[in-house]
Amino acid sequence: MLAGGARGITADFAAALAAASHCRIELLGRTPLPARPEDPELAGAADATALRALFAARGEPAPAAIEREVRNVLAGREVAHTLDRLGRLGSPAAYRVADMCDGAAVAQTVKEIQAEHGRIDVVVYAAGVIEDRLIEEKDPESFRRVYATKVDGARALLDAASQLPHGPRTAVLFGSVSAVLGNRGQSDYAAANDALAGLGERWARRTGRRALTVHWGPWAPSGVHGGMVTPHLAREYARRGVALIDREEGALALLRELAWGDESATSVVYTASGW
Ligand SMILES: NC(=O)c1ccc[n+]([C@@H]2O[C@H](COP(=O)([O-])OP(=O)(O)OC[C@H]3O[C@@H](n4cnc5c(N)ncnc54)[C@H](OP(=O)(O)O)[C@@H]3O)[C@@H](O)[C@H]2O)c1
Repeated sequence: MLAGGARGITADFAAALAAASHCRIELLGRTPLPARPEDPELAGAADATALRALFAARGEPAPAAIEREVRNVLAGREVAHTLDRLGRLGSPAAYRVADMCDGAAVAQTVKEIQAEHGRIDVVVYAAGVIEDRLIEEKDPESFRRVYATKVDGARALLDAASQLPHGPRTAVLFGSVSAVLGNRGQSDYAAANDALAGLGERWARRTGRRALTVHWGPWAPSGVHGGMVTPHLAREYARRGVALIDREEGALALLRELAWGDESATSVVYTASGW
């Protein structure tokens, strides 16, 4: 089961997992999955620019509302694409809407998956948001959103997993190199990823199971939505001489770590170059 696994880089990891094992995969995220096929006009609007034009032509006057609709359509398409991709790779896959910041919803979702399938072997916690700003410009609500999405969400998932009769044998947590080495504008995100690793470590001690936090360096963006590294950020990293993780190699590196890595290591750092 992968929280935050239907979009971004975790969808690539889910695909690597599917290709290697054909295991059943449950994905969790906030994006609602579009209930029916898109009408032909909407389906014909392939990218953000075309969608903006379509929603404006349909009479939506507010730019902010148009942007929201565009984001929702693209996110829904991304989830649908991931499910389709996993199915084609041989993994039966399902998606459930759950906000990881809602502890009751997380507990309920874990219960439902357990009831449906009888067991959860591995949990991956990859939900995260960034709202980068220098600390003097950061408002407490923003700090709370970034921190809670990682820490409260992961705690809720690990707690719910601990209640299961045969809980997952492995928990994988997606952290960030910013927790280890810091990054400008990311005091909240760095603190959250550091706390995330601490949660995993304590869970492993308490349960005797394996917890692994992967502190990733930046991944190369791809396709419509390639994760937190936007094309603009990618150019900024290039200017700083920071190489980006190849998407296929990143996903395979984690599979290799899980298969052959030292099980007592509770966190690892994976980057494509120095920081
Ligand atoms: N991309 C990188 O280079 C990079 C580097 C270091 C670490 N990471 C870590 O890797 C993870 C994935 O990053 P990404 O780049 O793929 O980012 P992303 O594309 O923004 O994906 C974030 C994922 O988290 C989900 N999510 C966010 N808030 C959530 C919530 N409250 N409840 C449930 N799901 C939630 C999102 O789905 P919905 O929007 O549908 O909720 C999405 O699937 C993050 O934890 C990030 O910190 C990424």
